[in-house]
Parts: sequence; C-alpha cells; structure tokens
Amino acid sequence: MTTILVAVASRHGATDEIAQEIAEVLRREVPGAAVEVRDAAEPGDLAGCDAVLVGSAIYMGRWLPAARHLVERHRAQLSTVPVWLFSSGPVGDPPPPVDDLAEVTALGGTIGARGHRVFAGRLDPAELGWAERFVVRATRSPVGDFRDHDAIRSWTAEVATELAAIPGTTR
Ligand SMILES: Cc1cc2nc3c(=O)[nH]c(=O)nc-3n(C[C@H](O)[C@H](O)[C@H](O)COP(=O)(O)O)c2cc1C
Repeated sequence: MTTILVAVASRHGATDEIAQEIAEVLRREVPGAAVEVRDAAEPGDLAGCDAVLVGSAIYMGRWLPAARHLVERHRAQLSTVPVWLFSSGPVGDPPPPVDDLAEVTALGGTIGARGHRVFAGRLDPAELGWAERFVVRATRSPVGDFRDHDAIRSWTAEVATELAAIPGTTR
C-alpha cells in the first residue's frame, strides 16, 4: 500500500486545515493510499513513507521552526522519496505575491523537493496573541479567510498525477 505523509506546522489552525484538505484529495486521487496528517513537531517514523508533503504557515517571512526542523532532521530519509512543500501566508484579496521565501527554497533544495506552492492564508484577530495583533495592526494586514480551496485542490491533484508517474511509488 502507498503511504503518504502530510506533515504540517500551524500556529492558529489555517494551515492545518489546508493539510486536511490536501489529505482528502490525495485519498480520493491515489486509490488505496494510506494518507496521514501529522504535526510537523511529531512526525513519527518516516521510514515507511512513499511520499511526503511538508507544509507550514509563514510568520515574519519564515516557516515555523517545527517544519524547518523536520526537513533538517530527516534530510537523509526525505531525500529518498518524492517530497512537495506548501506554505500558507499571504492575506488580502487578491493576496500579495510573497517576496522571498529563499529559506524554504534552500531547504527544499537540500532534499530535492519536487515543488513548493504558496497558498493564501487566514488572519483572524480573535485567535491572535497581543504581540501578533500589534504586528497585524502595524502592518495594516487585511484580516479574513483568504484561503483558495480550488487552488489547494487543483495543486494536490497535480501532485497526485506526478506521484502516479513515478515508478514504484504507488502500489
Ligand atoms: C504576526 C504575524 C506575522 C505574519 N507574517 C507573515 C509573513 O511574513 N508572510 C506571509 O505571507 N504571511 C504572514 N502572516 C500571515 C499568516 O501566515 C497566515 O495568516 C497563515 O494562514 C496563518 O496560518 P496558521 O493559522 O496555520 O498559523 C503573518 C501573520 C501574523 C499574525
């Protein structure tokens, strides 16, 4: 059976929900696959995974530490399987382009990641701590849920198609 791990780092739940949506699409598009969503901080044993997707929310231009550390600690294992990266960050309608996620690009390079997709995110002031609310006010960030579910689903379907074309990955 094909085992796919979706490992996610999320502070306020928006990226976690994106990971759940990705997993749902993968279950549908890769028949018979076991698809698990796990917290990037506790990814468990990656040895049995045939493919891995790693995602994180973006805060102050960076991935959350749990997602960065997962890639760093499991570099050897991740280099042996197909890996895709995703991020959730930009807010607004339309969301602004993300300037520079050089760190994520570099991390992906160390494991030969097949792609990195940035999705629009969600900002709900009621969920934020005072320091975060201060940053949001200071940067005049638009608040709301800007996640594009069509974009999430179609990217995941592309991943499933790519995965099916890699010999030995889907069984
Ligand atoms: C304090 C703060 C800083 C943020 N910094 C960025 C940033 O640098 N770039 C970006 O695209 N989004 C940024 N965001 C938006 C979040 O990444 C976005 O809301 C994301 O969907 C939150 O995901 P989560 O609920 O999984 O934590 C920031 C949000 C907050 C509250």
